[in-house]
Amino acid sequence: TCPCSAQSEKFVANYDESQVPDYELPPILDEVTAQADDFPSAWDARRSQLLQTFTEQMFGSVPTSEFELLFEKVEQAHCLAGKGIRQQWKVTISTESGTLPVTLLLYTPAQATGPVPTFLGLNFHGNHTIAADPEILLTESWVRDSKPQSATNHQASDEGRGSSSSRWPIELLIDNGLGLATAYYGEIDPDTDDQFENGIHALFPDHRPSAEAPDRWGSIAAWSWGLSRLLDCMEQIDQVDASKVVVIGHSRLGKTSLWAGATDPRFAATISNDSGCGGAALSRRAFGETVWRINTSFPHWFCGNFKQYNRNEAALPIDQHQLLALLAPRPLYVASASEDQWADPRGEFLSAKLASEVYERFELPGLALQDLPKPNTASIGVVSYHLREGTHNIDSWDWTNYVQFIKQLQ
Ligand code: GCU
Repeated sequence: TCPCSAQSEKFVANYDESQVPDYELPPILDEVTAQADDFPSAWDARRSQLLQTFTEQMFGSVPTSEFELLFEKVEQAHCLAGKGIRQQWKVTISTESGTLPVTLLLYTPAQATGPVPTFLGLNFHGNHTIAADPEILLTESWVRDSKPQSATNHQASDEGRGSSSSRWPIELLIDNGLGLATAYYGEIDPDTDDQFENGIHALFPDHRPSAEAPDRWGSIAAWSWGLSRLLDCMEQIDQVDASKVVVIGHSRLGKTSLWAGATDPRFAATISNDSGCGGAALSRRAFGETVWRINTSFPHWFCGNFKQYNRNEAALPIDQHQLLALLAPRPLYVASASEDQWADPRGEFLSAKLASEVYERFELPGLALQDLPKPNTASIGVVSYHLREGTHNIDSWDWTNYVQFIKQLQ
């Protein structure tokens, strides 16, 4: 079911497989690339072309003008009964137009003898919601007023501490010798349709200044750009192996992790959890959430050009299997949930299966599954997929599989 009621009376989602329109997907490989003897270099060229089309038609272009970064460690202490080290870093992004502080929260195992592979994912409600730990700094940015996160007047408060802890199994990761880094997505760009007057957009007023610019960067591009700045900071932290940072996200932040992995090859692997429409799911299936619906409910997520494809998916020059292919040959994990039909599990699975073509051309194994698997079995490899039994969420079962997945980097 659709969680956002505003336009629901105008839109009836299709959940009937027999009503999926006939569609023809744009190929991942063009003829030249498909026939090339030197596949990796032919793919480089094709990949740049696809990346450019996704930038122009879907996510929007990010600024190329200068900015400065300042990294300050604000706090470090042992935690989890001595098993972990918690650090908080203030990452300050500045341009001539202003400064933007973003707080990175990091957990690493205290026992580690060297830098560790680390997950990096944005959170929805503030760093203080990921664990009931009174030392985690409260965000001062705009947050949604939603229970159980207990924000009032869009300000974070102590009551929200730990309210999202089931989504962030810090101890599981520490016990497996892994790190976890997170930041609140609203510090990079508040998730409201506010004409981009605040957050990171405000620091680059000359980049696509007109609100009508068709390739103006939307919030997903802004959050992804922010993930790259957090990685810049992680490259300076001794406890993190920056060559093994896995970018992860759930839902809209899963769409974000895919775009971050596509635009920043320093991310060693990418995980999209229940990312759905605009993420891993094929747009042309128009199953569950559609391009029209997402552009109407969340006009600030994608760029203006993407609205041309409202109720017109067949005209898209791209589709989401090509987005997944942009991650090759780096490991990729696409995850769905059986009751999350809004995100179209089959469309997410098909995308991962189709993107496998590029991995195979790199002589790596593609997704081992032939069809949508039974719930609660995970197929873990270079290209991984699972369908968790249950609703739209990220839980410890999902994470247990992500821990197995990251081991291929260790
Ligand atoms: C809404 C939206 C989805 C998104 C989800 C989320 O359901 O329609 O596209 O993934 O919110 O981020 O939780």
